[in-house]
Amino acid sequence: MRNHWGSRFGFILAAVGSAVGLGNIWKFPFITGMNGGGAFVLVYLIAILCCGLPILMAEFLIGRHSQKDVVGSFRELTPQSKFWKSIGWLNLAAAFIILSYYGVVAGWTLDYLFKSVAGSFAGNEPEAIAGMFGALVTDPVRQLICLTGFMGLCLVVVISGIKEGIERWNRILMPTLFAIIFFMAIYAMTTSGAMEGLRFMLYPDFSKLTVNGVLEAIGHSFFTLSLAMGAMITYASYMDKKEAIYPVAIRIAFLDTLVAIVAGLAIFPIVFSVGMEPGGGPGLIFKTLPQIFATIPLGGVLSTLFFLLLAFAALSSAISLLEVLTAFMIDEKKYNRKKATIFMTIAVYLAGIPSALSYSTFGNVKLLKGMEILDSLDYVASNFMLPIGGLLIAIYTGFILDKKISKAEITEDGSGYLTIFNIWFFTIRFIAPVLVFLVFLTKIGVIKL
Ligand code: PFF
Repeated sequence: MRNHWGSRFGFILAAVGSAVGLGNIWKFPFITGMNGGGAFVLVYLIAILCCGLPILMAEFLIGRHSQKDVVGSFRELTPQSKFWKSIGWLNLAAAFIILSYYGVVAGWTLDYLFKSVAGSFAGNEPEAIAGMFGALVTDPVRQLICLTGFMGLCLVVVISGIKEGIERWNRILMPTLFAIIFFMAIYAMTTSGAMEGLRFMLYPDFSKLTVNGVLEAIGHSFFTLSLAMGAMITYASYMDKKEAIYPVAIRIAFLDTLVAIVAGLAIFPIVFSVGMEPGGGPGLIFKTLPQIFATIPLGGVLSTLFFLLLAFAALSSAISLLEVLTAFMIDEKKYNRKKATIFMTIAVYLAGIPSALSYSTFGNVKLLKGMEILDSLDYVASNFMLPIGGLLIAIYTGFILDKKISKAEITEDGSGYLTIFNIWFFTIRFIAPVLVFLVFLTKIGVIKL
């Protein structure tokens, strides 16, 4: 008997845990601010509805129907086709690559958590605090310690299984994450930057919204829902047949979006309250915010809470990818869970070492477009593997998979959701693939904006 989630709530928490990650906490707020605030939020909601949600439902139906790992799922559903089986392998490869470098970035959040607890920011000059980031990434030993620590945590969670490990941990991680982020947003509203922060995030300035912004919204809509990396297929394979797909999927999309918006409302007022500019990229989190935490009242507490929030978000996302790899070893290679988890953690850990040493020992190694190892891997995964994977999943469920199967899954064997199925079927055939394809063409430079 395949393991299952203990409850529907447990499954939702785990899937939200996978979806809510660094993408929500710093990427979404920032691209929103840059692309016209509320105008972008609106476009993003449409992107979630037209692209993210339909592909999420497609992954859920694939996983729940097959009750297999990501590679086994496609084999089970279309045994006659070698080509479509390869989507499973592509998803598996994406999970492996993404986890290998995400573990490094997640390790940085652990390092900053310890710095916060130790009070390392307080009383330091801004330049000294900004310099701590450079010092961390160029120190090979500390990089390896951080990576080891983080992958060790992932191992501890996944080795204990679905209900006892992943679900149990997410029951702690997710409510804490929600509590911290709402607390920080409320605190942020009491600062002098509240109005400016709200305006930056929510005022709909359509003049700032470009075609590029729209494509960015579409691309982000499926990165943020952890699509095309096997996570949602694998998690859904532990779903009970009696749990309906649509209501669960819509809740996950809603909660993921909520966290992203609240994260912006927590971060920007604090940044504006001290008159700073919200820079993009890792600098916002690892340089600007620590500088601010060093000066504001309760800064030490806020800093600890903030990096705890990031570490929790990173951990709950990373374990979903480790589970993709572990489930593959269990289902396909017949390993037991203990052996499968240890094997895959070590494999990902070894693959992560070059990324961890990207800015130190291997600083001179430039792979793509002059980028370091970690950045190159991120570039390949986000710009190629995920859009191609998403596109193929949409085409697969829209045109290749027997319609009887998808209809039975989404309408829960004809017991309801027929209109939802019809809308979903149209979107997954004609809207989502076109949108994802456009994003892909832009990212690889075929369409120039
Ligand atoms: N949904 C995640 C995010 O928005 O950050 C994407 C993700 C990244 C999931 C890395 C899992 C992971 F290991």
